[in-house]
Order: sequence, then structure tokens, then C-alpha cells
Amino acid sequence: MDHNKLALPVGTTLDRFIMRKQEDFPYATGELSQLLRDIALAAKIVNREINRSGLIDIAGAYGNRNVQGEDQQKLDVIANIRFIRALRNGGEVCTIISEEDADIIQTGNNQGKYVVAIDPLDGSSNIDVNVSIGTIFSIYRRISPTGREGSSADCLQPGTHQVAAGYVIYGSSTMLVYTTGNGVNGFTYEPSLGEFFLSHPDIQTPKTGKVYSINEGSAESFSPGVAAFVQHCKSEKFSARYIGSLVADFHRNLLKGGIYIYPATAKDPSGKLRLMYECNPLAFIVEQAGGKSSNGQLRTLEIEPKTCHERCPVFIGSKELVEQAEAFLAQEKEAAEATATA
Ligand code: AHG
Ligand code: MN
Ligand code: MN
Repeated sequence: MDHNKLALPVGTTLDRFIMRKQEDFPYATGELSQLLRDIALAAKIVNREINRSGLIDIAGAYGNRNVQGEDQQKLDVIANIRFIRALRNGGEVCTIISEEDADIIQTGNNQGKYVVAIDPLDGSSNIDVNVSIGTIFSIYRRISPTGREGSSADCLQPGTHQVAAGYVIYGSSTMLVYTTGNGVNGFTYEPSLGEFFLSHPDIQTPKTGKVYSINEGSAESFSPGVAAFVQHCKSEKFSARYIGSLVADFHRNLLKGGIYIYPATAKDPSGKLRLMYECNPLAFIVEQAGGKSSNGQLRTLEIEPKTCHERCPVFIGSKELVEQAEAFLAQEKEAAEATATA
């Protein structure tokens, strides 16, 4: 009898995968590996909180607004506490940028070599209605010497400097997807074992797709280029798919092909999504998977950040579709310049 058929192997755990990857770098000290494991542990705890949120009193509004003027949900606050605590206890991180905190957070680990930017819970509007939500994180090596607190220069590095980035999706199953700049791998959580297992090795995103994801409720304030691109998607009979949780929309498009857009709108003139803990980590992942991300003109990863919570428009997903959208925006620019000089 084939033992593998009788009892299927459970596969590679995230911990073992991280350990194996570390062996590829002979001088690696293991701190980044430990940091990724800290994040995975916090993700398991947050996953547990999310799953029981309908049963205990942790759903709903917290009664406070974050620095961006958005109403915080209780789970936003809980996830923030969980991730920050895990990073503080882990010891590898000196400084954190979190969506939920106005100022950078000093962990007290002044020997820590890393800086983390995090959206602890993404998709707040979906928390209470049992729709997929997520966590997004980005990891940088500090540039200031260790032995003192991290500086704002450590935090405000362009996305090209990321050493790792990832997200967790709390969906029909919970997954952790991450890159250290050597491809993208996805792990699915097995709750009965309390482990993430490698389920999506070396994710490659399709070169193109037939899905566009944008909040068309704001269509009246789209720029002519964005409006023309959306019209193009319709004329090509694309499907519109928009969950309203960036992680979930991004994850679907990463696996199936498509484009996610959050453009400048009247309400959010610089776009809504935040460069440091929403756009950059996903841009790193999408590029590692063969896709593309830009603000319509500039590669997202090359934007020089000026503040921790700055926003930027984002066009992210399959390479061909992002390039098509950029071409529509370039036409818009040319038309505007022609009118200006006429
Ligand atoms: P967050 O919950 O972290 O504030 O992020 C919400 C974001 C993102 O997840 C989503 O794609 C976008 O807001 C949806 O915005 P609209 O409701 O304006 O479409
Ligand atoms: Mn978010
Ligand atoms: Mn959030």
C-alpha cells in the first residue's frame, strides 16, 4: 500500500520554508526569518479574533478616528495591538509605521536592524459583514546605525529598498503571501494544526486579464484618462470586480489576472491608498510575480516618500493592463498640454 495515498503528506510549513530560504544566504543572521515568523504568529492570533468577532463584542466601531480621519473599528485597534506587540517582543524591529498611529512607533529595540510599515487590518468597511479583509506589511533594513532609535529617514525609504513584503488575507481560507525579492510564495492556514502550509509556490501573475477593479461610484470625478480606460475595459467586455478590501481585490487579480485602480478622485485628490503600507508592499509583490504597479506615470516603488501616511494613486496588476492604463493617462496628458499651448 502506498503510504502517501493512505495518509497524504501535509506539506511544507511556513517555518520550514523560511528556514530553508535562510540557508541560501550563508551570512544571514536569521533576524529577518525571525521577523517573518513573528508576523505569522500575530496573523494567526488576528485570524482567531476575526473568526470569533461575531460571537464576542469585538465587532463594530471603536468610537475613535485614526490619523487619516477614518473611523476605527474595534478589530482595527485589536489587530494593531497584536502586530505591534509581536514586533516589539520579537526584538528585530526598531521602528514601526502603522496606519492606526499618527507617529512612528519606537519599539525600544534599538539594536533592531529592521523597520516595518503595516496596515494591520485592511478593508475596515468589510469587517462587520463577513467579507474578506487583510493585513499588509513592508520590511526595510534601517539605514541609521543600530544602538539608538530608528529615524524618520529609516522609515521613509522608497519601495525599491524593501527587503520583504507580504499580506495576509482572512478570506474563505486564511493565506499569507510574501516575497523577499526572490519570487512570491503563498501559504494557506490549516487551523486544526495552527500552521501555514506552502500552497501557492512561486506565484506568477498572468500577463493580462479580463477583470478591472475600481470604485465606479466615484466615476464622476475620474480624470479623462481613467474614464477612457474604464470605458475601454467595458468595450472589451471585461468583468468588474470590486470587493472594497484592497488585499482581497489584489489577491484575486494576482492569481487570475486583472487590474486594480484607486485613482485620484474629488474626495481623495491624491488617491486614497497609502504609499508605505498599502501600495509599496503590494507593488513589490506584483513585480516579483511578473506584474506592474504605478501611480499612472511613475513606478510605485520609485516614489520618494515624504511622510509616513502619504497617499498615492495606484494602478496595479497584470503588466499589459497597467501599461494600457498608463497609455490612456499619457494621452490625457498630451491632450491637456495641446489645449494649454493652443
Ligand atoms: P483600510 O480599511 O485599511 O482603511 O483600507 C480601506 C481601503 C482599501 O482596503 C480598499 O480597497 C479601499 O479602502 C476602498 O475604498 P472605497 O470604499 O473608497 O472604494
Ligand atoms: Mn488599508
Ligand atoms: Mn487598515
